[in-house]
Amino acid sequence: MKYPGRVRLVEVGPRDGLQNEARPLSVEAKVRLIDALSAAGHAAVEAGSFVSPKWVPQMADTDRVMAAIQRRPDTAYPVLVPNKQGMNAALEAGCAEVAVFTAASEAFCRKNTNCSIDESFGRFAPVMEAARHRGVRVRGYVSTVIACPYDGKVSPARVAEVSARLLEMGCYEVSLGDTIGVGTPAECVAMVDAVVERVPRDKLAAHFHDTYGQSLANILAVMERGIAVFDTAVAGLGGCPYAKGASGNVGTEDVVYMLDGLGIAHGVDLEKVAAAGREICTALGRAPASKVAQALSAKLAA
Ligand code: HMG
Ligand code: MG
Repeated sequence: MKYPGRVRLVEVGPRDGLQNEARPLSVEAKVRLIDALSAAGHAAVEAGSFVSPKWVPQMADTDRVMAAIQRRPDTAYPVLVPNKQGMNAALEAGCAEVAVFTAASEAFCRKNTNCSIDESFGRFAPVMEAARHRGVRVRGYVSTVIACPYDGKVSPARVAEVSARLLEMGCYEVSLGDTIGVGTPAECVAMVDAVVERVPRDKLAAHFHDTYGQSLANILAVMERGIAVFDTAVAGLGGCPYAKGASGNVGTEDVVYMLDGLGIAHGVDLEKVAAAGREICTALGRAPASKVAQALSAKLAA
């Protein structure tokens, strides 16, 4: 068994975590969360998305959030953009990094963004052009890398094809999303093996949702395949409004705890993340979703 000596974590809680929450959250609460996560050592905190406020009302205030956060020089604050309109808003908000998102299944792509996979790439073209022009970094997401809530199993070859296309287009990294959290370690390894036939493994990240409790096992399995970037969400918040039944992302606290146990460097302070998780869960009126976040939250309360 050989794991990387260091992994990079991308904190997606303020975007993937909050986009699915029923209780509206103030700009101040979001800003406090993002600032606490960057202060905890995160090198990347996904801060929101510039999508239609009719589709995802929880992210409608991303411009105000971006204006109010304390931008640390060592932290990137990517935001999701689906098209040129989103990119314009991101540039206006002074974003230095954005993320485009598509899928490996047609049905999910359409439910999520009202277009086919091919059409999603058509929308990305002007985003990439503006990014090149303005020196903005672009990350790419592929959703439904294991299965689609509408179309069922997804072929690893299809995931490889869409990932390669995102990199060819100019993304610096592609995050592979098990959107509905159904993958098991063997399936995730098979998917990664297919993708690395088309793209270098150091350009890949894994994004696991924890619906079936497999995320930590999946992370271990793909780390053995050399994947060393993982998207995580504080307190295990998260879910996609267009993937019914999908639960939160793997918890940042859980991944940090596991990596600490393995002696793998990551740069994130567990106690600070746990405190941020506890505060945001209080604001949301809910309990943390992930096990380590729950245990640490109970300890903090005692
Ligand atoms: P559309 O209806 O096809 O777009 O939506 P349109 O170009 O026809 O425009 C329709 C309306 O939307 C117009 O407004 C536009 O101005 C507005 P109206 O005239 O009706 O008032 N509009 C926008 N407004 C703000 N920002 C924009 C924007 N673009 C158009 N950028 C669109 C297409 C993509 C916009 C829509 O489908 C949408 O916003 N979808 C939301 C997608 C989303 O945020 N999903 C969740 C994030 S992805 C995810 O969670 C998965 C991930 O975590 C990885 C994983 O787990 O797999 C990343
Ligand atoms: Mg997600």
